[in-house]
Amino acid sequence: MDERVKDVLARLGLSTAPTGVAGGEFETAHGALLQSLNPATGNVLGEVSAASVEDAAGVLTRAQERFVSWRMVPAPQRARLVATLGDLFRRHKEDLGLLISLEAGKIRSEGLGEVQEMVDICEFAVGLSRQLHGLTMPSERPRHRMMEQWHPLGPVAIITAFNFPMAVWAWNAALAAVCGDVCIWKPSPRTPWCSVAVQHLCNVAMAQHGCPGVLSLALGDVDVGAWMAQQRGFPLVSFTGSVAAGRTVATQVAARLGKSLLELGGNNAIVVMPDADLDLAVRAIAFGAVGTAGQRCTSTRRLLVHQDVMEPLLARLKKAYASITPGDPLVNTTLLGPLIGPRAVQAFQAAVAAAQQQGAVLVHGGKRLERPGFFVEPTLLRIPRGVVAPITLEETFAPILYAFEVASLEEALQLHNAVPQGLSSAIFTHDMRHAEHFLSAQGSDCGIANVNIGTSGAEIGGAFGGEKDTGGGRESGSDAWKTYMRRQTCTVNWGGELPLAQGVQFL
Ligand code: UN1
Repeated sequence: MDERVKDVLARLGLSTAPTGVAGGEFETAHGALLQSLNPATGNVLGEVSAASVEDAAGVLTRAQERFVSWRMVPAPQRARLVATLGDLFRRHKEDLGLLISLEAGKIRSEGLGEVQEMVDICEFAVGLSRQLHGLTMPSERPRHRMMEQWHPLGPVAIITAFNFPMAVWAWNAALAAVCGDVCIWKPSPRTPWCSVAVQHLCNVAMAQHGCPGVLSLALGDVDVGAWMAQQRGFPLVSFTGSVAAGRTVATQVAARLGKSLLELGGNNAIVVMPDADLDLAVRAIAFGAVGTAGQRCTSTRRLLVHQDVMEPLLARLKKAYASITPGDPLVNTTLLGPLIGPRAVQAFQAAVAAAQQQGAVLVHGGKRLERPGFFVEPTLLRIPRGVVAPITLEETFAPILYAFEVASLEEALQLHNAVPQGLSSAIFTHDMRHAEHFLSAQGSDCGIANVNIGTSGAEIGGAFGGEKDTGGGRESGSDAWKTYMRRQTCTVNWGGELPLAQGVQFL
């Protein structure tokens, strides 16, 4: 095992060899051995034995038993578990962030940022536990009261991707736990140590509060995910990943009339108007397109630039891109780490080649780096006017940015909304009419629309998710908690008569 991983696990107090199965303590796992690779070197970080479908079924049975009592614990008391977890994440921020950098290749500050996002959502969920409120509405009948209340749903399957190996679980689990659900997490098999470390802290917190089975781990391969999608024991399946995989999961969940919460691909664009502050725009574009090596679902993939500022903006971007050298994500000055693995590099190369074949002009980058690990150059391609490049309709999880020139905001919006995905979007302008137009019903069709900030790096307080092929789900802040609960409408008759609604007479 990699020494740094070993040290982190020791500092977290994780002495026994963990497995991919736990709901209070680590259990024997019967699946294959999962190899964890450091994408910055290609070296093996360690191995974890994965959950088989039978292991996952055992975890679900124990979670279902816990649910029977957990749903009756008052929500503010359930929140104590989440508060403890938030404290543990804060205390171990450095080490958890290091694991994210080692396994997912994120630069140090982004690894730490991801842990901060977990702390934030825990704090949000604790406050939320006193606000899970329903409405009351006037009844048409005398001495009747109508109200709605929200009850826990049951076991929630949380299937997450490699690119946010901890935080996306936290958005789901922190809310679901205060809502009275129990959670079973199937993380990406590519980041096993991240999930094992988080589960270990969950085990510590659950032991402290005497509630094993609330937060469980079934770290398995696609067979476990497919089983979860088909299993009626999960009234809700929360899935983060590709559009193709999401379509399969959603179809399987729908076939049994379950609920799914989908957070799928994005193809996010930034519109730059002639009155934009280009200094702000360049920084936001660089972070959006090159940050996380372009492996966020919110990464900026397209630029829609007004013709009046195309040349100056491209010149500045070229300069910014030239200053970003891919390198070791653990070195403080590095801004661009590796892609997750060899297939991601191939996808990058294929997209760059396809774009050029389809008429794009390479402005910067385009190549893989000749060094160990999975490094590519930050890449900028210009799509000349009139060129139709179908590759730009696709999400390639890599630092590739396509720049389009437009003559008006209308033209920008037409291109903007012409992709199948609908996650995040932004406009840079100082003209309030442009900004408001972009945010209006005839503007951006995305779940997230920003003015003078980029497409990525959303705060947890807002509802997070998008439309169209992005799947329509909302996680994290605002009223996203409602997805994790079932709504009950109650009418109470406190009179001595039985008047029927709509004036119907009977008996
Ligand atoms: C993702 O890439 O799956 O808005 C999530 C952001 C982050 C979350 C990204 N807060 O970029």
